[in-house]
Amino acid sequence: MMKVVGGSASQMLAKELAGKSGFDLAKVEIRRFPDGECYVKIHEDFGGQEVVLVATTHPDNNIVEALLLQDAIRNSNAGKLTTVIPYFGYARQDKMFTRGEAVSARVLARHLGQGTDRLFTVDIHNLSVMPDFGDIAENVSAMPAIGQFLKYEGVDVILSPDAGSKGRAELAAGCAACPWDFLEKTRIDGETVEMRPKNLDVAGKTVAIVDDIIATGGTIVKAAEQLKEQGAERIIAACTHGLFTGGAEANLGAACDIVLSTDSIESAFSKLSLASTLADHI
Ligand code: R5P
Repeated sequence: MMKVVGGSASQMLAKELAGKSGFDLAKVEIRRFPDGECYVKIHEDFGGQEVVLVATTHPDNNIVEALLLQDAIRNSNAGKLTTVIPYFGYARQDKMFTRGEAVSARVLARHLGQGTDRLFTVDIHNLSVMPDFGDIAENVSAMPAIGQFLKYEGVDVILSPDAGSKGRAELAAGCAACPWDFLEKTRIDGETVEMRPKNLDVAGKTVAIVDDIIATGGTIVKAAEQLKEQGAERIIAACTHGLFTGGAEANLGAACDIVLSTDSIESAFSKLSLASTLADHI
């Protein structure tokens, strides 16, 4: 029997995963000292059983917590340890954009990779980070599950916000059984940039824009407004990781008919659980 340990930011998902896979949830204590430092304790002996730690590493507090949980699990007689990082924070700082910057994703990947036998990320922003976890990591995608959800919502076209992320739209569209495309930006003048699907017409259609992350919602809102101008009937915004910062909820609510994210970051928009996708891979 495998055991599941859930980090503070992944309690719902850990429970869902345990339920889906027939694993037991372990008894874990996580609290903070008055000075803010994290304290974790596993209240059982795993007796050599395999353990799955599910821990989103965002915001910063949860990075320390995940590292401590890995250690506590090891200290509790675990067999193999699999670490699942539903949302890997700092993934977007995956290189030195300008000289003198930290390569944050690499730093965190190295530390988290050291404390585990196997590791899963989900729709990591850039796959180039994977080797930094060591030769133990696999990235899984929520896009097939998102595609199923969109099919149920009657989607006609799935778009990615740019050419670089078109693989995600293609993956979701494969499961939604609909065409896909990506948005191409054209500069009209100094102030105006037009976003339009490269090949497809959206007039009268239910259009989904899929992305790995929605943060401020700026990318999706801009695209949604332009697609509506081009005649799109309904806009669905779908992402794996819904950070929803800085007024994103209100802005997305005004521009989109449906907003959907997974439970990699738990929020009111987590309409789709990663549990089945993760259970299939683990
Ligand atoms: C960026 O490269 C990511 O894939 C997302 O498109 C981006 O993080 C979305 O950010 P925002 O919601 O703030 O536009």
